[in-house]
Amino acid sequence: MFVFLYWTLFLPVSKSSQRFCFSAEMSGLLFFVLMAHTAYGDVSYSFPEEMKRGSVIGNIAKDLGLDVNRLSSRKVRIHTEGNRKRYCDINLNTGELTVAERIDREGLCGKKDSCVIKQELVLENPLQVHHFLLNIEDINDNSPQFKQSVIKFEIQESADKGSRYLLDEAHDADIGMNSVQSYALQNNEHFVLNVLTRANGRKNGELLLNKELNREQQKEISLIVTAVDGGTPPRSGTVVIHVTVLDANDNAPVFSQDVYKVSLPENSPLDTVVVTVSATDADEGQNGEVTFEFGHLSEILLEIFSLDSVSGVIKLTGAIDYEEESSIELPIQAKDGQGLASYSTILIDIVDVNDNAPVIGINSLNTPVPENAFPGTEVGIINVQDRDSENNGQVRCSIQQNVPFKLVPSIKNYYSLVTTGELDRELLSDYNITITATDEGSPPLSSSKNIHLTVADVNDNPPVFQEQSYRAHVQENNKAGSSICSVSATDPDWRQNGTVVYSLLSSDVNGAPVSSFLSVNGDTGVVHAVRSFDYEQMKSLKVLVLARDNGSLLL
Ligand SMILES: *[C@@H]1O[C@H](CO)[C@@H](O)[C@H](O)[C@H]1NC(C)=O
Ligand SMILES: *[C@@H]1O[C@H](CO)[C@@H](O)[C@H](O)[C@H]1NC(C)=O
Repeated sequence: MFVFLYWTLFLPVSKSSQRFCFSAEMSGLLFFVLMAHTAYGDVSYSFPEEMKRGSVIGNIAKDLGLDVNRLSSRKVRIHTEGNRKRYCDINLNTGELTVAERIDREGLCGKKDSCVIKQELVLENPLQVHHFLLNIEDINDNSPQFKQSVIKFEIQESADKGSRYLLDEAHDADIGMNSVQSYALQNNEHFVLNVLTRANGRKNGELLLNKELNREQQKEISLIVTAVDGGTPPRSGTVVIHVTVLDANDNAPVFSQDVYKVSLPENSPLDTVVVTVSATDADEGQNGEVTFEFGHLSEILLEIFSLDSVSGVIKLTGAIDYEEESSIELPIQAKDGQGLASYSTILIDIVDVNDNAPVIGINSLNTPVPENAFPGTEVGIINVQDRDSENNGQVRCSIQQNVPFKLVPSIKNYYSLVTTGELDRELLSDYNITITATDEGSPPLSSSKNIHLTVADVNDNPPVFQEQSYRAHVQENNKAGSSICSVSATDPDWRQNGTVVYSLLSSDVNGAPVSSFLSVNGDTGVVHAVRSFDYEQMKSLKVLVLARDNGSLLL
């Protein structure tokens, strides 16, 4: 059971300050009505609004000193002025004033501080009119109420700490302590509530940003603000505060990788996609629209690579050559619509392809080679080069079989061409040596080079007569100077070394030098008679012819 106590202030009393006090028990509620004579009426009653119909307000007959037994005969009644409602009835038997109609203080008086209804009690025989006042007291029968059920705010995420957002005040039809006394805000991360009291004593709340917002973490915030009145028990009303956090460009784009590492075979065809970069920006709309561009690139690189600023696809628009550059670095940046940027790098590792054949160079060549060169004599120095790397640049060198030469590896990439056997100019005077160089790429590339080597003559062959001996018959009395026969010797050596010169080996015939009988033409080998022969004196003659070559060195 609740006990409500109602108190009213007595206005200045004109006649008497007599007090009447009585109690009534209604609907299980015990309450007191305090009454006093007032300046405006003969009697006044203070009581709470919303009492039940029939509830006793007071005994007006007693209070006015009327005879209770004559009430009926004097046709006592309550008179209301104009069209106003009659709020109370009088019990003709007891003289008690009772509630006739629902009395809603808020409906009658709104926010007025006091709510007084004037009524008249009329009696006849003789005609008598008594004024009386009903002073309606407020009870806490209304809850605070906000105009809307949801208050919407759109707040930039960049809003500073301490920013304020005024809330509509909550309305409570009750007055005094029964009206709104305080506001409370549901516990939350970002806002606190500030309660402002205006000059007229009314209160409203404002949200105070206590911790900065971050749209990327939370886009929407819902809070409940409660307005509480001072009644006992208090009543409350709530409103939902809905905060939409607006984007500010507070995030730069973020690349999916700090460094993009890519391998790309050299000579890749045009339009090959090298890499696709991507970046995300947590902001919204333009603030989050990312475009890409290269950082500083040389003219050459700009011709080789293209970048789609929207999709981040990097393609090949030119030729890349491992031998020119084995790795390429492309700086790239991502920008959002407001120009906030971040950076990344693309590291392209160019993969070698076996696109270069070995190149054979002849550093020196001792041609012609004397035919008497000892086996192992160096006749040339060869160098091979291959611009490719690793296996693609590893080169093997060979020469064809069946030649008396071989390649002997020397320092890196150098070979000596040496003889492997004796040479004989008279058998083979020159050689076409084919050197083949093959790399170890797959497929391998090779190249070859011909070397023309000639063999220089050495005077290593003596002249040889075609016949061991020559016979000739001469008629006596021949003419002096006539030719008798001719000898012939050959020498396969070159030029002077092979040029045969004939001469007679000197000897005596019958006490006279052989040269007085015969002579031989040094060049042609034709033998002539120096004198006329006489059969009777000499029947035969034997001479030795010497064949000699013209070489500078005889063996
Ligand atoms: C060497 O090659 C040349 C032309 O390539 C040819 O004229 C010559 O007869 C060749 N010599 C030998 C000894 O094979
Ligand atoms: C003849 O042979 C000698 C060595 O025996 C050599 O020095 C010379 O150059 C050769 N002459 C010619 C024309 O080949």
